[in-house]
Amino acid sequence: MAKINVPPAPPVTLVIFGAMGDLTRRLLVPAMINMTRLGLADEGLHILGVGIDPGDDQTLREELDAFTPEPGGEGAVEKGAAWEQLKSRISYLQGDFTSDDVYQSIADRIGQAASGNAAFYLAVQPRFFGDIVDKLADHKLTVEAEGVFRRIAIEKPFGHDLASAQALNARILKRVAESQIYRVDHFLGKETVQNIMTARFANMMIERLWNADSIDHVQITAAETVDVGTRGKFYDATGALRDMVPNHLFTLLSMVAMEAPNSFDAEAIRDEKGKVLRALRHYTPAQAKENGVRGAYTAGTLDGRSVPAYTDVPDVAGDSTTETYIALKLMVDTWRWHGVPFYLRTGKVMAVRDTEVVIQFKPVPFTQFDDTAAANVPPNRLVIQIQPDEGLRMDISIKRPGLAVETAPVSLDFHYASHFDVAHLVGYETLLYDLFTGDQTLFQRADGIEAGWAAVQPFLDLWAEGGSPAPYAPGSLGPDASDALLARDGRAWHSLAAEEKSA
Ligand code: BG6
Repeated sequence: MAKINVPPAPPVTLVIFGAMGDLTRRLLVPAMINMTRLGLADEGLHILGVGIDPGDDQTLREELDAFTPEPGGEGAVEKGAAWEQLKSRISYLQGDFTSDDVYQSIADRIGQAASGNAAFYLAVQPRFFGDIVDKLADHKLTVEAEGVFRRIAIEKPFGHDLASAQALNARILKRVAESQIYRVDHFLGKETVQNIMTARFANMMIERLWNADSIDHVQITAAETVDVGTRGKFYDATGALRDMVPNHLFTLLSMVAMEAPNSFDAEAIRDEKGKVLRALRHYTPAQAKENGVRGAYTAGTLDGRSVPAYTDVPDVAGDSTTETYIALKLMVDTWRWHGVPFYLRTGKVMAVRDTEVVIQFKPVPFTQFDDTAAANVPPNRLVIQIQPDEGLRMDISIKRPGLAVETAPVSLDFHYASHFDVAHLVGYETLLYDLFTGDQTLFQRADGIEAGWAAVQPFLDLWAEGGSPAPYAPGSLGPDASDALLARDGRAWHSLAAEEKSA
């Protein structure tokens, strides 16, 4: 939620590990600029960037100044006076965050700020997460004196599989309390993702039908047009499943499938989300084979640009079997969702950029319109458009005007942009504000993370045994096997927005 009518965050030093990295310049600092502009971050806020590159305060400021995002692209914010104010409060500490000296300097810098509050943001490679938390704890930087907070934000990926996520949680929680850990899934900073809960729990006519009696199945899609580009090293060791499913797509799934929390406080909400993730069916190897499809893109063109095959991307092994596309059929074993499949898909270089959740209702039990042109009434559908063009659409049937009895499908269509000023926020504003104010609602808890990994582990195990992803062309909607996954159940993927526009 864009926090406009709320007080500024308390004074705090935001210590960013990985200060010269991409995340800092594209998302964290632009979000801080917006927060400054909106009056959410005042002079009590300081940013201390920590990085291995040589330089001083001025170097980091210039580095951030030089960042020029594409117009309307990630990190494209109005800098103006807010940036000038913020800039003077940014400083830099050069050092190797695996060595002890740097932590002593951090302690000194935090000590210079009046409040003593600190939020440590780990925008670094995941292999450093455990080490940094240990060092922070060794140097007593995580100790919360009376009235002072010390918090740690950790970016994804949190673990590489179930065992590594469990080990990382165990290691971190040995040194720091869960209440100090903020595991970031940036999807939770998206306005429309948060709106899923509002749409459900503020609308009787939606929530009353939100169960297996009325819902046929759910589809969650995160289609991307970007290719792997310069991220070959990270991506080849990760793949679409690890990169998107146990985090972003499960965030959406848990919002859709959770029970109503008995209050809107962080623990009540995270309890309900955790229950859903624990209720995801754990497949046997045979079931995983039947219910998962993986793909990798071939060479081709997309929107006029030529795209090299995934295996030709720099830093990707020529014989790589890492997937860039994945489609899954999952089951949530609760009374509410008994027998309702959740179909998930995500991939790179697909025909269109579109993240959406589709709730497909059951067809009416019978129609009184037999023998008329209205005999085939399509089922209702609720489409939650996460991005781009955020909104909510309800597909219903009406009577086509005229003397004959004939139905026509129409859509009740709400677009955020037509009603609200949704532009200009990068999504991290709310996450940072919550980090500073101590609200963990939009962050993942240890049990939720582990439950997510447990549900995808059968696919990871199966694919580790061998085989390779099915090829798909850039600009397509994934491999044919993905359509077959639904066709087998007599269903089909929802047409994505751009397809409909061009239809
Ligand atoms: C990141 C993944 O977490 O999320 C990327 O590592 C992916 O591969 C991105 O492209 C998608 O996020 P968004 O906000 O652009 O939909």
